[in-house]
Amino acid sequence: MDATASTASSTAGPMPDDWCRTGFDHLSPDLAAVLPETLAHMRGSCPITHSDAHGGFWVITRYADVLRTAQDWATFSSAHGLGIPPSTTHLRNIPVEVDPPEQRVYKRLINTHFTPKAIASWEQPTRDLVTRLIDEFIENGRCEFMDAFARPLPSLTFFDLALSAPAEDLDKVAYLASKSSIPNDPEGPACWAGLAAWITDFVRHRRDAPPRGDVVDAVLRAEFGDRPLTEPEVIGIVQLLILGGLETTAGALGLMMHRFSQHPEIPAQLRRQPERIPVAAEELLRLDSPFIAIARTATRDTELDGHQIKEGDKVLIYWASANHDGAQFSNPDEFDLERAGNPHIAFGAGPHRCIGSNVARQTIRIALEELIRRVEDIRPADGAQIHFHSTLTRAPLDLPITFTPGPRISGA
Ligand code: HEM
Repeated sequence: MDATASTASSTAGPMPDDWCRTGFDHLSPDLAAVLPETLAHMRGSCPITHSDAHGGFWVITRYADVLRTAQDWATFSSAHGLGIPPSTTHLRNIPVEVDPPEQRVYKRLINTHFTPKAIASWEQPTRDLVTRLIDEFIENGRCEFMDAFARPLPSLTFFDLALSAPAEDLDKVAYLASKSSIPNDPEGPACWAGLAAWITDFVRHRRDAPPRGDVVDAVLRAEFGDRPLTEPEVIGIVQLLILGGLETTAGALGLMMHRFSQHPEIPAQLRRQPERIPVAAEELLRLDSPFIAIARTATRDTELDGHQIKEGDKVLIYWASANHDGAQFSNPDEFDLERAGNPHIAFGAGPHRCIGSNVARQTIRIALEELIRRVEDIRPADGAQIHFHSTLTRAPLDLPITFTPGPRISGA
C-alpha cells in the first residue's frame, strides 16, 4: 500500500492528543484513516499548534484562521514551496508558487480561458465522454470507479478541450498525469519525468504550429512587462494547469461516489430532484474537500490567535478542516441541501483561489447528472476495503462499487 494511504473502515477515534499537539504529520498513513475525526479534535482542542515533524511547522484548522492566512499573502507567502517538506518538482508551478503582484499578471493571462462563458462549448463533448465512460461499465453491475470514471474523465476532457493535445497522446498523458499526481505512487518519479518531457515537446511543437486561440496560445504569445515569457515560465504554467485540476477533480468525483455508496438517501434525493445537483455538488465539495491542505511560509514575525509565528516558519492550512468548522457552518458534518449560504473554501481563498473552479463545477455537474440518472442502487463491493491517499489532496485510491446493471446508450 502507498505509504500515505490507509483504510476508511477504521472505527478508531482521532489520533492521540499529544500527537496532534506536537507530532502532527500530514504524511502519516495512520492519519489518513482518521483524518476527519482528528481535524475535528484539533479544531476543538488545539486549533493552531506547532508540530516538530519535518523540521517543524504550524497546523491551522479553524475556518477564520485558515481564511486570514490565505488572504494575507504578504505575511504568508506561496513563493517558498507549497508542500512540507518542499516538493521535489524541478519547475516552479505558476502562478501558484508566485506572490502578488507578479502572480496577478500570470493569473490574468489564463483566467479568461476558464470563465463559464469560455467553457460553455465544452458541455456537450464532456457529456459525450461521460456517456461513453458509463457505457463501458454499466452492463456489468460493478466497476472500480476511480479507474473506470473518476480519473479518466478530468484528464481526457482537459487534454482534449483545454489543451487541444493530440488525440493519440491522450491516454498516455492522462496516465502519466494521474500517476504523478498521486503522492508516493511507486511509478510517480518515472511518470513525473515522462510528463515533464511530454509538456516540453508539446510546448515546442505548439510554438511552430498555427495558433488555435486557446490558453496554450495565450501563454505562448504572452508578455511579462516588456519581455516574452521564458520557456520555464510557459512550462510551469502548462504543468500547473495539467496537474492542478486532475487529482483534485478525480478526488472530488471519487469522494462523492464513496459518500453515495455509504448514504444511498443522497443519490435517491437527487434522482427525484436533479435540478438540485449544482447545490448538492457544493455541499459535497464542502463535506469531502479533495484539496485538503496547503503550505505557506511566514515572511515576517506575526501573531495568529495568540501564537507567535516567526519569519521563515512554515504553516499548513487545512481547507478540509475549515469546511467542517461549527463556528462557520451549522450541522457541519451533515449533508444539508437547505443550508442558508455555503461559503466553503474547497477552491481556496485569497489571491490564489482556484482558476479551474468553473471547469471543475461543470465537469462534476455533468458527471453527477448522468451518474445519478443511470447508475442505481450504488453500494460498496462486498468486502471492499477503501484505501485513501491523504497528503495535500485526498482521494480513494480505488473504489470498487456495485449497482443495478443498466443498458448502454451510445450505440458504440
Ligand atoms: C474539484 C476540483 C478542484 C479543487 C478542489 C481545486 C482546489 C484548488 C485550491 C484549494 C487552490 C488554492 C491553492 C492555494 O491557495 O495555494 C487551487 C488553485 C488553483 N487551481 Fe484548482 N482545484 C480544482 C480544479 C482545478 C482545475 C480543473 C484546474 C484547471 C483548469 C485548476 C487549476 C488551478 C490553478 C492554476 C490554481 C492556482 C491559482 C493561483 O495560484 O492563482 N484547479 N485549486
